[in-house]
Order: sequence, then C-alpha cells, then structure tokens
Amino acid sequence: MYSLLRFRELPSTNTYARQKIKELSDKTVIVSDTQTAGRGRFDRNWISDIPGNIYLSIVLKPADVKPDVISTLSHYTAIAICRVLEQYPVKPQIKWPNDILVNGQKIAGILAESSFMGQKFNGLVLGVGINLNMPQNFLQRINQPATSLNLLLEKPIDQEVFRLDFLDTFFEDYENYLKSGFKMIKNEYIKKSSFIGEKVNVKCGKVVKSGVAQSLTDNGELILLIENGTLEKISVGEIY
Ligand code: BTN
Repeated sequence: MYSLLRFRELPSTNTYARQKIKELSDKTVIVSDTQTAGRGRFDRNWISDIPGNIYLSIVLKPADVKPDVISTLSHYTAIAICRVLEQYPVKPQIKWPNDILVNGQKIAGILAESSFMGQKFNGLVLGVGINLNMPQNFLQRINQPATSLNLLLEKPIDQEVFRLDFLDTFFEDYENYLKSGFKMIKNEYIKKSSFIGEKVNVKCGKVVKSGVAQSLTDNGELILLIENGTLEKISVGEIY
C-alpha cells in the first residue's frame, strides 16, 4: 500500500522528499522523529525539535490526474487528519485552505509542494505536522495560538498509533479522491469549516481581501462576498 522511510532527525521531511523525488516511488512516506529546519507555509518555520509529534511527508506520483485534483490533495489531507482527531475525541475545524484548529487554536498544518522538471510533473510532496505531545511552554514559541492533543486530553498520546491511523485513513480513500476530486469531500469539508458565513481576511500574496466566506466551489476554491457586493473565487491564499 505505502512504504515508510523512518529517520531520527532530518532538516525537513519535505526537503528530503523533494531532493530525492526522482528515486522515491509513489506512496513513499518519509517520517522523522524531529526536524532541524521544519518549514511551514509561506516560508514560516515549523517548530519540530520535540519528539512525539507527527512530522511526515507523503510522496505522491499520480498519473493522468487533473491539476485541480492535485491542488486539492491538501484539502483531502486536512479531512483525513480531522477524521483521526475526531476518534480521540476532539472537535477539529478546518481554516481554509488546510489549517486544522481545535478550540480556535492550531493543532496541525499541511505543506503541499509540487515538483516539476521544466513542464514535467515529478510528483507532489504532502508535508504533515501534527502537535500530539507538545509541552505547554513550547507552544508559546509558536507565533499563533496553538494547541496539542496531549494538552486537550490531559494524557500522553501514542504517536505510532496516531500515525498508523492517519496513513490508513489517508490511503483508504486516496484512489477514489484522484478520480472524483474535491466534490467527493466538499460537504464534509464545509461541515468541518470554521469560517463559512464569517467575515474573514484572506491573504493572497501581498494582497489582503476582506469579505464574508460564502462557500467553496467544487474545486475547493473559497467563494468570498466582497464588500462591494461581488463574489470572488480565490484559489490560492489563506484565511488569517
Ligand atoms: C503550515 O501550517 O504552515 C504547514 C506546516 C507543515 C509542517 C510539516 S512537518 C513535516 C513536513 N516537513 C516540513 O518541513 N514541513 C512539513
């Protein structure tokens, strides 16, 4: 189904996967106990020096799949993370496009990076970081409100069990997702969203757009009702 490469420490599982993408086969999962240069979206750091948390990257090399399906695999990953968290049980919510929050605080993030050689698509690296066993005082080093599963449940979390459940959940529906795309999970994604009907600010590169989040398209784009009454579809950016 999938193969796993495990390391004690790497600079970043995403960086490793991207560097080796040609020799890594489809559905290889790179796992590291810690990272010395963990990366988040938009060049942010991802604090990764505490073992017991999830730091992994999934290498995917799907053939003949539409670009809009590839670009929403991170939305699909967010749903898989939520499904596992719900078993603990906590109530995760998604902040578009793929931040996972519990009680408004970030518990997991996804860094999706495509690799191209010229026009040729080499593969996608889906990096997943999940706070499972963060000490309270380390969360203060994170530059946004953050939480960790152990603190929510007031007990240590078995990271091996969580990782197995997550990878099983991810790969269970993966082939179906490649065929169907975002509409397969759209209702579940909307149900788990923290932002629908809310006034939000969306960072799109250097531009910030403000409006009320109406819904999502069948391709996972955010539909925003701008103050001048127009509807805008946003495909790349983040609610902050
Ligand atoms: C974000 O929310 O900004 C995305 C965070 C992604 C962090 C993970 S940890 C494993 C993988 N390797 C990295 O360097 N980053 C991702």
